Amino acid sequence: MNDMIKEPLLAPSLLAADFLHLNKAVKLIDESEADWLHMDVMDGRFVPNISFGMMVVEQVGKVLEKPMDVHLMIEEPEKYVTQFAKAGADTITVHYEACPHLHRNIQQIKDLGVKAGVAINPHTPVALLEPVIEDLDLVLVMSVNPGFGGQKFIFETLYKIRQLRQIMQDRNAKALIEVDGGVGLQNAAKIMEAGADVLVAGSSVFGSEDPMETIKKLKSLGNLPVYEV
Ligand code: DX5
Ligand code: ZN
Repeated sequence: MNDMIKEPLLAPSLLAADFLHLNKAVKLIDESEADWLHMDVMDGRFVPNISFGMMVVEQVGKVLEKPMDVHLMIEEPEKYVTQFAKAGADTITVHYEACPHLHRNIQQIKDLGVKAGVAINPHTPVALLEPVIEDLDLVLVMSVNPGFGGQKFIFETLYKIRQLRQIMQDRNAKALIEVDGGVGLQNAAKIMEAGADVLVAGSSVFGSEDPMETIKKLKSLGNLPVYEV
């Protein structure tokens, strides 16, 4: 079964890095086998935590060579996406639950020449994305409740990934499926097997003894167990 699992696109999350040495973390990502850098912006309103904002994203954007994957856990994202695009975001993801005019949000991001993603919380059914699925470059399936790194992967997410993959196949939709929260060496293969394309990994990468090596292992899924979640 292992040989059927494809290599993931890997997006380590800066949220778990040492904030006193962000430059080091960015360099590590650029020199590693990681594909993107994932950046978690939190506003203390949509989620019960505040992380970093525009100024940090701008500074990182100046030195990062790899694509920047910006995950906005904020209310009224339409007020800020232009600035995030200017700061160097390659993909901007907004939350379904924060966007009463989601179609408009997606168009706004695309008009800026940036890839558009929509994230869904663990309790939000994937079917709600059907009306916009063909417009999306990315669907981010949250596998923890957003707001904090280091939480436990919610097992039911695997069913949602399978459902989403099916919906996308039926509609011939091309979006990438990204899974975010509690992802690590112990469950990455299982998540890929369910139909994911992109894995976000925060504490499992930056909290590990050797982040470079952990990235390498996550990229070579053929050697990982497929059970344990
Ligand atoms: C959670 C964030 C995640 C977080 C993942 O709200 O969206 O991207 O950084 O962290 P880990 O991998 O530690 O669960
Ligand atoms: Zn995230």
